[in-house]
Amino acid sequence: MAHAHNKFQTRLASIAADMETVLAQVLPEPAGPQARIMEAMAYALLGGGKRLRPFLLIEAAHMLGAKNQGIWQAAAALECVHVYSLIHDDLPCMDDDDLRRGKLTLHKAYDEALAVLAGDALLTLAFEILAQDNVHPDAGIRLQLISDLAESSGTHGMIGGQVIDIYAGDGAQDEALITQLQALKTGALIHYSVLAGGRLAGATDFDLQNLSAYANALGLAFQIRDDILDVEGDSSVMGKRTNKDAGLGKATFVSIHGLEGAKQMAQDLGERAKSALKPYGENADILCSTVDFVLNRQK
Ligand code: IPE
Ligand code: IPE
Ligand code: MG
Ligand code: MG
Ligand code: MG
Repeated sequence: MAHAHNKFQTRLASIAADMETVLAQVLPEPAGPQARIMEAMAYALLGGGKRLRPFLLIEAAHMLGAKNQGIWQAAAALECVHVYSLIHDDLPCMDDDDLRRGKLTLHKAYDEALAVLAGDALLTLAFEILAQDNVHPDAGIRLQLISDLAESSGTHGMIGGQVIDIYAGDGAQDEALITQLQALKTGALIHYSVLAGGRLAGATDFDLQNLSAYANALGLAFQIRDDILDVEGDSSVMGKRTNKDAGLGKATFVSIHGLEGAKQMAQDLGERAKSALKPYGENADILCSTVDFVLNRQK
């Protein structure tokens, strides 16, 4: 157990470190009278975060035997979209947060206009990266990755979830609505992470179904853990403010089931995620350890 845990932590740290190099490479160099936008993008994208979504993409591809450089490019595109979502999520018109990844949020370190624009620029950069032929030699696969990323981050994905999140506090909160909110807000991009790794590795329909079941359960468990940490996490460890959801009237699994109910739910989802990868035996060890990491994470 302890051995598996250490192996996992080493792997996560190693991918995060390599990812940092790739992210620095995909960013545009500060140049021209608009240089501050490139600086703002680098401020938000580099030097922080768990890099869990890139990790999931890379490890899903590894599980199915792919090791090419393209998976790192695709992972970088994905992290750009995630960071854009965080920049906008923290804006005063949304969650109004001052701290992210242990640093001032982008609109505090720069200003609101630049935070909006840096978010937009990271989102568009993601699609530019995915269109390049170093992602995968088959343009059909690249097109699929682009189209899936647009869907997972759009109105039927992350944006849809953010909209429900903002307005759900005004009305009745029920389990179905909260499940949908979480599945879209956080689940969609996590689902994309795992499936994109699979597609880059030439996954069969059978593989895609298994990966999908894994990702859906993991994504929901991940956001439930985020909601639990908002209540009982340590802000200095997490690098972001805690105890804010209740005050904002946010609908979460904790708000309807309480802490213990939410923890049990996350555990059950974790079991479901692991069982979806049974057909892969020990090749799925890392993705299974990722489930334990997500359930027990302190940040
Ligand atoms: C935070 O995501 C936002 C949510 C979707 C809950 P992460 O917890 O993955 O944040 P970073 O990338 O590690 O900073
Ligand atoms: C944010 O959810 C989800 C996205 C950025 C899409 P939260 O608002 O709960 O994330 P934190 O807690 O600020 O990281
Ligand atoms: Mg939010
Ligand atoms: Mg927030
Ligand atoms: Mg949160």
